[in-house]
Amino acid sequence: MEVIISKNAGFCFGVERAINTALKTIENEEIVYSYGPLVHNQQVVDYLEDKGIITVDSIEGLMGKDTGAVIIRSHGLPKHTIEEIEKLGFKIVDCTCPFVKSVHNKVSEYSSKGYNIIIVGDKDHPEVIGINGWCDNQAYIVNTIEDAKNLDFMDKICIVSQTTNNIDKFTEISKIVEEKANEAIIFNTICNATRLRQESVAELAKQVDAMIVLGGNNSSNTKKLADISRIYNDNVYLLESISEISLQELNKFNKIGITAGASTPDWIIKEAVRVMENFNKDEMMEAIDSSFKRI
Ligand code: F3S
Repeated sequence: MEVIISKNAGFCFGVERAINTALKTIENEEIVYSYGPLVHNQQVVDYLEDKGIITVDSIEGLMGKDTGAVIIRSHGLPKHTIEEIEKLGFKIVDCTCPFVKSVHNKVSEYSSKGYNIIIVGDKDHPEVIGINGWCDNQAYIVNTIEDAKNLDFMDKICIVSQTTNNIDKFTEISKIVEEKANEAIIFNTICNATRLRQESVAELAKQVDAMIVLGGNNSSNTKKLADISRIYNDNVYLLESISEISLQELNKFNKIGITAGASTPDWIIKEAVRVMENFNKDEMMEAIDSSFKRI
């Protein structure tokens, strides 16, 4: 069994930056909260909680608590939520990914110039909720062709994307949406890390017999890597860790590709490779063993 790791797999720049900042903050501040889990990976969240970082999910979760620093994760937060946290006396440590911040700036600028904002993305995803919070929650959120077709005709629109969107999906939807206005400005705000991961996974999925996509079940960019893999490969496994699959199942494939979402730490990828390689060795030893027994 040959195992090939996709280029650009695992932690992206924004997630790495948020984790490093959180770890530095805990050295200097007595109490540190993370507003929402810092990454979509339970092992990393447990590790950070061990270091003393307390995860809260809402403003209510901060109420009545001792004040301290509040980390804003890479997904960002709506403007009004940040203001409420500050009003409660907490110090903001803003780890919004610069790529997400740039979307906030665009929607804020264009909504104030009178453009209707269209966000192509998942309305329930924290990043999309955050972006909408920088244009007074007035954006139209479009996630399917159907949503795009159902939009009313408008005068001026500004289209942005959730940073982890599938590129083909964004292109297809924005083409329909731009016909719905007299003037349309399109910003492809899919981040570079996402674009590179999607390109690499498409290449790899074509070459291998099966693909393993490692990442959290609630990680949007991980799910998109699995969706892209499925276009080119019939055997795609989306797993949080390699322990979720029987290695006998994988042993029927000669070449296996591995990729991982932007919030999957390196050690999960290394563990998967190590387990599969050791399995190869064990299998080989068994084969040698049984051939000796036959003599
Ligand atoms: Fe930032 Fe892109 Fe990662 S927006 S958090 S670099 S997936």
